[in-house]
Amino acid sequence: MNHFPCDLTHSTLPAVTQAISPDRSANDSGGGAPPALVARGVGLSFAGLRALDDLAFEIPAGGTSAVIGPNGAGKTTLFNCISGLYGYEGELTLHGRPLGRLRPHQRARRGISRTFQTPALLDVESALQNVALGAVAHSRVGVVNSMLSTRRRRREERETLERAYALLQRLGIAALASRPVAGLAHGDRRRVEVARALLSSPSLLMLDEPAAGLGAEEAQDLLAEVEAYAGSDTTVLLVEHDVALVMSVARRVVVLDSGRLLAIGTPDEVRADPRVVEAYLGAEDADGPAPERLHASTGDAL
Ligand SMILES: Nc1ncnc2c1ncn2[C@@H]1O[C@H](COP(=O)(O)OP(=O)(O)O)[C@@H](O)[C@H]1O
Ligand SMILES: [Mg+2]
Repeated sequence: MNHFPCDLTHSTLPAVTQAISPDRSANDSGGGAPPALVARGVGLSFAGLRALDDLAFEIPAGGTSAVIGPNGAGKTTLFNCISGLYGYEGELTLHGRPLGRLRPHQRARRGISRTFQTPALLDVESALQNVALGAVAHSRVGVVNSMLSTRRRRREERETLERAYALLQRLGIAALASRPVAGLAHGDRRRVEVARALLSSPSLLMLDEPAAGLGAEEAQDLLAEVEAYAGSDTTVLLVEHDVALVMSVARRVVVLDSGRLLAIGTPDEVRADPRVVEAYLGAEDADGPAPERLHASTGDAL
């Protein structure tokens, strides 16, 4: 039986929720816009272990959606498939265009950006340089071009550094811009990584447990800042253990369990889904009706 690490309370609704339009359900495609992401038959095995199995779901364009599930459910593996680090069965379609077998840098050019469960930063480089690296996959200056046009390259570098600095300001850590990231506190390293992922103005921004190691308030602030900065052209896809946080920010929630799609829907739909109730609280049914416990404010950890 699986146990998620916290309750599903409504109690921590951050202001950011109000900015998110309600789920349009069924086809997700209000106004004719295709979903941000469509998965059809997505699967992957590691030496006999079925890490993802026949996943099919849609993530609406705009706002924040989330992927939840217990440790080992396949959340990070799914992100690795979407970003092109892992090959997979089936098809993923981004804003109506199949991703096919595009490599990670090609997917980055299509607008996919991400952070890692453990921040992946260049420790000896400054916070500013780390954020600026977010532009690498998007540079308009090719190799030949860069040899021919030093002036153009310098201008592009300067613009990138200016945008990187503006992002650090936005996330409240501009004072750390010149500091090597090795010496930064965990929460600041997270911010640097999120800033780097935002630099390319992605259409799909995947955050793998961005709140890990942050306090609840700090985590909410970070997500609110990300949504505000990213704007309506960016869809944020969040993997997060703090289910209360997920339920308060997400338009659509994908629930994975042992590599399979357990449930998908709005936070209310997912909360009411008997399979989710069972997966979260099955072993504790003796303590009371599970649906009530899903709404109870029982603290952060089960
Ligand atoms: N590179 C890999 N090689 C072998 N097994 C892996 C690899 N990555 C993940 N797994 C396995 O796939 C399953 C899903 O892992 P993961 O996606 O990291 O789960 P989650 O992020 O939901 O905690 C786990 O059983 C994990 O051990
Ligand atoms: Mg993970």
